[in-house]
Amino acid sequence: MALVNNFQRFSRSILGVVSNYSKCTSNTTLPFLQAIRKTSTTQPLSEKAEVSITFVKADGEKIKAKGKIGDTILDIIVNNEIDLDGFGACEGTLTCSTCHLIFPKEVYDALPDKPTDEELDMLDLAYELTDTSRLGCQIVMTKNLDGIEVRVPSTINDARA
Ligand code: FES
Repeated sequence: MALVNNFQRFSRSILGVVSNYSKCTSNTTLPFLQAIRKTSTTQPLSEKAEVSITFVKADGEKIKAKGKIGDTILDIIVNNEIDLDGFGACEGTLTCSTCHLIFPKEVYDALPDKPTDEELDMLDLAYELTDTSRLGCQIVMTKNLDGIEVRVPSTINDARA
């Protein structure tokens, strides 16, 4: 009989804990979490601002594409499945120079980063090199670059070949 009484006391104490927990979560925790959610200012990564870019091929055809701030131009070409023969062969590892693009002078001057020595070495192997040439895999899109037009050379040189 004592064993049954002990078991009943134990059961009541467990029910009391569960009951108090549910009161606590419904009365205290939920409003606290809702307040945090309302005051959070962090933007999810998927909501990065959109940017656009136009590729002008050697025959004059213009191809418009959209990407996000932080994408490289190579990312935008891949994500939009733009068919530029042989473009980006090394997938951005700076070993091919097939992502050679020619920028208008004012855009070239405004690019956020200057080319590294490794990029300049690869550019030396590109066909149709100009003073405003860069490698598309090294250019990261910013808000300032939204809406730019870049020229795609008529021929590419895969430096790995
Ligand atoms: S994709 Fe190869 S150097 Fe840019």
